[in-house]
Amino acid sequence: MKNSDILLKLESITEAEELLARAAAEFDQHLLLASSLSVEDQVLTHMFLNITQKPRIFVLDTGRLPQETYDTMEKTMIKYGITYEVCTPPQDKLMSLLTEKGPNSFYHSVENRKECCFIRKVIPLQEKLKTGQAWMTGLRQEQSPQRNLVPMVEWDTPHDMIKLNPLAHWTTEKVWDYIKKNSIPYNLLHDKGYPSIGCAPCTRAIKSGAPMRSGRWWWEDPTHKECGLHTGTRS
Ligand code: ADX
Ligand code: SF4
Repeated sequence: MKNSDILLKLESITEAEELLARAAAEFDQHLLLASSLSVEDQVLTHMFLNITQKPRIFVLDTGRLPQETYDTMEKTMIKYGITYEVCTPPQDKLMSLLTEKGPNSFYHSVENRKECCFIRKVIPLQEKLKTGQAWMTGLRQEQSPQRNLVPMVEWDTPHDMIKLNPLAHWTTEKVWDYIKKNSIPYNLLHDKGYPSIGCAPCTRAIKSGAPMRSGRWWWEDPTHKECGLHTGTRS
């Protein structure tokens, strides 16, 4: 079936579980879940495992993730008996970046920050996505004004493949209810004021009621707060 026909078929689905099931049936081992170990990704991991014994889930391990994220990864591997496809930055580019600009270049300019995200996240993502036909993310409309048009199903032009955001319309409350009801392991930083978690040096806790992503790259203008993973997403 052509991608345009598959898109049309998937676009008629309104429930996350059903979307996952139909996508898994359609793409089998060419369906990839991108997990940052966020609560959204943990919900999707749990749902994916209800559908298939061998889900393909990848983690972009930037080398700078918080210890609590690695702990969540390990707990999830043990609970579900799974392994992750771990994607690491290209060694040569990382070595040049660190040699030329030092370990904390991201704090010095938006350009430097994007360069670090490009090497540690975007290049590994591009490489991984070459092995699939469709990928899934935990993006939700509620996460920020920049994401308020995120659809459940879309064509990802930069990666030339289908992109699914099954939880696009879920509220934070619904995500947490699902986590608690199913006893799903979650990142303990969430209990310490971190609603959105990325790399350790680029994430901090926020006051209750502050915008969900305001602890990410907090020193930058809020409209820049994307790292390049989701450039093809409607917003
Ligand atoms: S980001 O673009 O600012 O980093 P965010 O942290 O909100 O995005 O995560 C949105 C979605 O992008 C996650 O639900 C997940 O699908 C994907 N994602 C983000 N970071 C990673 C990562 N390190 N590894 C794999 N997927 C990731
Ligand atoms: Fe580098 Fe920070 Fe981007 Fe992580 S979030 S890749 S440490 S700039």
